[in-house]
Order: sequence, then structure tokens, then C-alpha cells
Amino acid sequence: MKNEKHILCIGAGYVGGPTMAVIAAKCPGYKVTVADIDDRKIKAWNSDKLPIYEPGLYDMVKKVRGKNLFFTTDIAKGIREAGIIFVSVNTPTKTFGEGAGKAADLQYWEKTARAIVEYAEDDKIVVEKSTLPLRAAEAMHRILHSNSKGLHFEVISNPEFMAEGSAIDDMQNPDRVLVGGMRTASGKKAVDKIVSIYAHWVPKDRILTTNVWSSELSKLVANAMLAQRISSINSISALCEKTDANVGEVARAIGMDSRIGPKFLRASVGFGGSCFRKDILNLVYLCEYYSLPEVASYWEGVVRINDFQEKRFVKNIVRNMFDSVAGKKIAVFGFAFKADTGDTRESPAIYVSRMLLEERAELSIYDPEALDNAEKDLAGAKGRYELVRDPYKCAKDAHAILILTEWNEFKTLDYRKLYESMEKPAFIFDGRNILDHKALYKIGFNVFPIGSSKLSHFK
Ligand code: NAD
Ligand code: UGA
Repeated sequence: MKNEKHILCIGAGYVGGPTMAVIAAKCPGYKVTVADIDDRKIKAWNSDKLPIYEPGLYDMVKKVRGKNLFFTTDIAKGIREAGIIFVSVNTPTKTFGEGAGKAADLQYWEKTARAIVEYAEDDKIVVEKSTLPLRAAEAMHRILHSNSKGLHFEVISNPEFMAEGSAIDDMQNPDRVLVGGMRTASGKKAVDKIVSIYAHWVPKDRILTTNVWSSELSKLVANAMLAQRISSINSISALCEKTDANVGEVARAIGMDSRIGPKFLRASVGFGGSCFRKDILNLVYLCEYYSLPEVASYWEGVVRINDFQEKRFVKNIVRNMFDSVAGKKIAVFGFAFKADTGDTRESPAIYVSRMLLEERAELSIYDPEALDNAEKDLAGAKGRYELVRDPYKCAKDAHAILILTEWNEFKTLDYRKLYESMEKPAFIFDGRNILDHKALYKIGFNVFPIGSSKLSHFK
């Protein structure tokens, strides 16, 4: 294989851009090219306004861009030149045909495999960075070897475990890196080549090598287990609200059991993000495909509880605001699916906003990074809403504030000033439990946390 120090990544999205920036920064001996069909995205990667917001990303890109990191739309040239090709294209849930609503839509991924076959002039290692269904590498292998050029392609699974908002940190200090390969001589050699890239900065004992299928499945299971913890604590939050228990206290008490651990036990309005829902549904589809309906239904429950939590949040708002929000201004604080990102994919804010618009509420939405995406997400939604770039304007004359993203800046706003500018009685529904509820109650707000008793001035 030629050019083993030249990496191409196909797909310049939330994963492709940041992972390649980190690889370029940590491996100065490699040339790293990131290619995408989206010309506007590539232009943005080459500009001062990157297409995604991620703490630390801009500084990292600036350090290496034009030195050993390049962004391009010339995919054919990229394929010809690189010895190692990461594929990091989107793999959304299928919306049509067999498996619609659950299975992964692999059309973008398959197109890249076909492009590799078409433009490659020598042997390559092809790395699945996208999250794919189990045994996808086999299909990739088949497509790649349908070439009549006599070329050899080794398919490796190297799933990405970073979380948005902490992507650069996660990639610089990963809990583990997983590299799955075929158990053949050429498969093992290819695994070693991928391991040696990460070994530039990741301790060897944190780089796991497995067979391809275990690696593919581990990625789906990791996301399913993380989401399961959130759905578990969210289900308990509903019980807490009925019984005067406090979900924060419960989470703390159980999280101190070292077998359970404290992370991912923050009750919320629901989990969002581009992957949890999609990857669990993909797992569900796989279980159904392999005739395991009980296993499928077990994991589907995680998604059902998340839908329940979002709906419950809205019902709670309507019920407590005297059974009607029609014509009332409601301030939405936070539209991103989590803090420190502008990403709104599958954000609970989308569902909550749409449900409230159906109830004819008038929404005023503020988010420090996600308003452009919010505009796209709400396009076509019936009803009145405005996107506001100042939280104080957002809440002026509103009947309620909803906290839908855990942005730090929401903790330090002047809530007395906000209260004074609002209609009375004024409500706060804290979908992230980040505010000081007692202090808000003292100011005069009626406060509705997730998973603990409301603090209401009505007797
Ligand atoms: P994304 O939508 O942000 O980026 C995908 C990019 O691929 C887009 O820019 C798109 O234009 C490009 N693309 C699609 N088809 C192409 C083609 N034929 N040739 C060239 N470019 C093409 O998606 P993402 O969030 O980066 O996710 C990518 C994969 O990584 C998914 O499988 C996802 O499940 C997985 N993943 C995502 C995250 C995350 O936090 N976003 C974390 C871990 C894993
Ligand atoms: C998640 C995983 O954490 C990553 O390991 C994985 O690589 C990634 O999915 C992926 O495959 O895309 P991400 O979705 O970026 O990362 O963010 P998380 O921090 O996992 O948060 C997901 C959602 O759960 C957010 O809406 C967050 O607010 C919510 N959450 C998280 C809770 O409601 N409670 C918690 O305790 C933790």
C-alpha cells in the first residue's frame, strides 16, 4: 500500500471535521484531507466561521489547517492520493421502504464505497467511522471487491465515542479507542496501521482491538446503554413528582454505589442528539431481523420513555398554566440538544415547541448558539414564534420561561429582572434542573422542576 501517511476522511460533519483536526494536530507526519460533497460546508471549514460550534475546535483547526490538514470537495483526487480512507458520512434512520423508522439509511455510506471503487488506483484501508449496523463492514467489503482492477481493500471498524460539546477533549483523552478488523494477516496489518495513528497520543492500554462485528456492535450498545440510564432516571422522575421524593437526591444516592456510578443520571426533559434515538432504533431493527422480539421490545422501551418524558413535560405546562396556553407568550431558553453545541438534531426543544405551538402558545426562543438551526427545525410549523438574540427581550411579557438546554449562562441571568418584566403569575419549568428553585420561588415564580415537588404560590 502506498501513501500510508496520507489520510482522507469522507464526510466533513460533526465527526469528520473534529476527529481529523485532532489526528492532524497529534500526527504532524501525516497529511490529512477532509472531503465532502457539500461545497458550502467545505468553504466554511476553510474560513474563520467553521460550520459547527465546538469548544476548542477553532483553535485546533487554525493550528494545522493549510499545514497538514486540508478541506476539499475534490473527493476523487482525495481517494486517489490517500492510503487510508475514513468514512464519516451520515447514517440517518431510514424514512422509506423496508425498515422505515428503524433501520439505518445506508445510501450515503454506499455511495462513498462506490466512489472509492471508482477512483482508487491502488490498495487502501477503508475505516468505518460512521455508526453502522452490525455486519455493515461485510457489505462494504463486497462492494469494494466488486472492482475489476484487482485492488485489495481492507475494511476496519473504528467507531467514534466522542460527545458533542466536549468533542475535542473527548478525542484528546478518550476512555478508549476501538479498532475492529478481520482476523486475517492483512486484516491484522491494517489494524496495526490504524492503532499506530492513535498511539501518537492515546496510551496503548486504552486502544482495544477486536473483531469487526464486536466493534460495530459495541458502538450501538454503548449508545443504547447511555440512553437507557437517562430513560431509567427519567422514568423515576415521574414517580418522584407523584410522591415528594427528589430525583436529584435519588440519583446521588444510587450513583454513589460504585457498581452504578454517578454519570448519566441527570433527569431531564428527555435526551436528544442525532444518535441515541437512531442507534437504539437500529439496534431494535437488528434484533427484529434476527428474530429476537423480546430483546427488540426491551430496547424500544428506552425510546418510548423518552417520548413519554417530552410529552409529560408539555402536559405539565398546560395543566399548571390553568389548562390553556393559547395566546400566551412563553419564553423558551435553549434550543440546542445539550449545552456547548449549536446542534439541534432530535433536540427535545423541537418536540416541546411544536407541541406548544399546536396548543396555540406564542413562543419566543433564545439560544446562544442554536438559533439558525432552530429556524430550520421550526420551518413550516403552524403558529406564532420568534427567535430572539437576547434572553431579557425573550422573556419580556411572557407568562412562563422553559429551560430546555443546560447552558451555563442560564444559571447566572438576573431572574429578579426577568420576573419583573413578565406577566403574572409567572412560571418557570426547569427541564434541566439547573436553576436555584428556592431562590426563584422567593422572587415570586411558580417553579416546576423535573422529578421533585413544585414550588407554587397557589394554595
Ligand atoms: P453530519 O451530518 O454532521 O456529517 C456527515 C457529512 O457527510 C455531511 O457533511 C455530508 O454532506 C457528508 N456526506 C454525505 N454523503 C457524502 C458523500 N457521498 N461523499 C462525501 N460526503 C458526504 O454527521 P455526523 O454527526 O458527523 O455523523 C457521522 C456519523 O458518525 C454518523 O454515522 C453518526 O452516527 C456517527 N457519530 C456521530 C457523533 C456525533 O456526535 N455527531 C458521534 C459519534 C458517531
Ligand atoms: C452521545 C454519546 O455520549 C457519545 O459517546 C456518542 O459518541 C454520541 O452520542 C454519538 O454516537 O453520537 P451526544 O449525543 O453528543 O453523545 O451527547 P450526550 O452528552 O450523550 O447527551 C445526549 C443527550 O442526553 C443530550 O440531550 C443530553 O442533554 C442528555 N442527557 C445526558 C441527559 O438528559 N441526562 C444525562 O445525565 C446526560
